[in-house]
Amino acid sequence: MSKKLNIGLVGFGCVGSGLYQVLNKSRLIDARIKRIVVQDPKKERTLSLDHFSFDVNDILNDEDINVVIELINDSDAAFEIVKSALSSGKDVVTANKKLLAEHLDELVLIAKENNASLLYEGAVAGSIPIIRNLEEYYNNDSLTSIEGIVNGTTNYILTKSNEGIGYIEALKDAQNLGFAELNPKLDVDGYDSKYKLVLLIKHAFGVKVKPAQIQNIGIKAITPYEVAYAKEKGYRIKLFSRAEKLGDSIVGFVAPHFIKDIHFAYNVNNEFNAVVVEALFSDKQLFIGKGAGSYPTASAVLSDVSALKFDYQYEYRKSKEGKKLRFSNDFFLKVYVGSPFIEAVNEVPFYHVDELFQSDDYVYQTGWVKFSELSALQFNNRTDLSLVILSDKLKATEELIEVKNARRELEYL
Ligand SMILES: NC(=O)c1ccc[n+]([C@@H]2O[C@H](COP(=O)([O-])OP(=O)(O)OC[C@H]3O[C@@H](n4cnc5c(N)ncnc54)[C@H](OP(=O)(O)O)[C@@H]3O)[C@@H](O)[C@H]2O)c1
Repeated sequence: MSKKLNIGLVGFGCVGSGLYQVLNKSRLIDARIKRIVVQDPKKERTLSLDHFSFDVNDILNDEDINVVIELINDSDAAFEIVKSALSSGKDVVTANKKLLAEHLDELVLIAKENNASLLYEGAVAGSIPIIRNLEEYYNNDSLTSIEGIVNGTTNYILTKSNEGIGYIEALKDAQNLGFAELNPKLDVDGYDSKYKLVLLIKHAFGVKVKPAQIQNIGIKAITPYEVAYAKEKGYRIKLFSRAEKLGDSIVGFVAPHFIKDIHFAYNVNNEFNAVVVEALFSDKQLFIGKGAGSYPTASAVLSDVSALKFDYQYEYRKSKEGKKLRFSNDFFLKVYVGSPFIEAVNEVPFYHVDELFQSDDYVYQTGWVKFSELSALQFNNRTDLSLVILSDKLKATEELIEVKNARRELEYL
């Protein structure tokens, strides 16, 4: 039997106000928003003031409210709210990927102890139903890789840069359209994509990984030279979150990629997101949809709300198998690095160089590097060195000797 949902909504910004409208328009779900809590009493609202409260305890202490929907832009405050709601047995729906990437295990434990649900489809790739599919459809251990464009802001900026529009202007547009994070660093340096990757790895492979273990390289240092290189070679630049099984390891990272027109995500532009799932027997499958914005994200939240009517909970069935896998950054891949300065390019420890190009004002080099050795270069703090991944395939550590030999042979020549 479906249960009656009395909702306490925390946050009435881009997603929260979208949810209010989507819920009112959707007659299929018998749920009512009993109270909305926001922060700023002086802000103009689209609803009359009597709809709002400014104290979250008005929701947390209301026994009649059995569902808390957390849609605020402050992950520390969100942690306290979600913890407290779950502790008192209220179901929680959130779209806050930072909160989840940092505290998932603790929150899942509290939810379990209190027989409450914690659902978060809206936290990864906006409207794309990826978490529930990974939980329910791909509920065995046959997945081999998952990769995708999971940040609408960077995909929007990269699409615009391809059209000749500058980084600052494109970022402003994304902010005005409501899908950029309050702090642009979260988007453009790849943190947002990394938080989502933590959740994808958990649901795809059952592996626990902390955000600090995953290296994220963003798009700030992409220059018109990389855009021109992509055009010349028939590539497009996309910021990818990528994880795959490599032997007994799961490897994963966030970085800009040059992708070819045969890639599933080549035509995924603007704020659209795409996730490509690869499994042993079904090969590759593509999910595509709006990855951000008011209604698209609200639609994922709505889907979680409707799942709560039947007490749906994630079961994390792959966790047992996931314990046999370890997260690793030890693998090889092919990259492009570009800079106005040859010294900057020379800082990158290449194992095998494929191509070196030098003009009066720009240098680039392509070849194979060991991924774990890139972290020392701190790409997100540099404006003089751009990195874009060229690899379809990642090479495992076992192949290290082969690559090292290739470098030695080069040195002897
Ligand atoms: N925007 C998107 O496209 C998108 C997509 C996927 C996921 N998300 C996630 O969804 C969440 C909400 O994002 P958003 O874009 O809707 O944010 P937003 O537009 O900036 O709105 C934030 C809302 O939270 C309220 N708020 C902030 N701190 C609060 C507190 N301590 N107590 C009560 N209310 C508080 C604000 O109150 P005031 O109105 O009083 O300022 C505002 O209503 C974030 O976790 C974000 O990462 C967003």
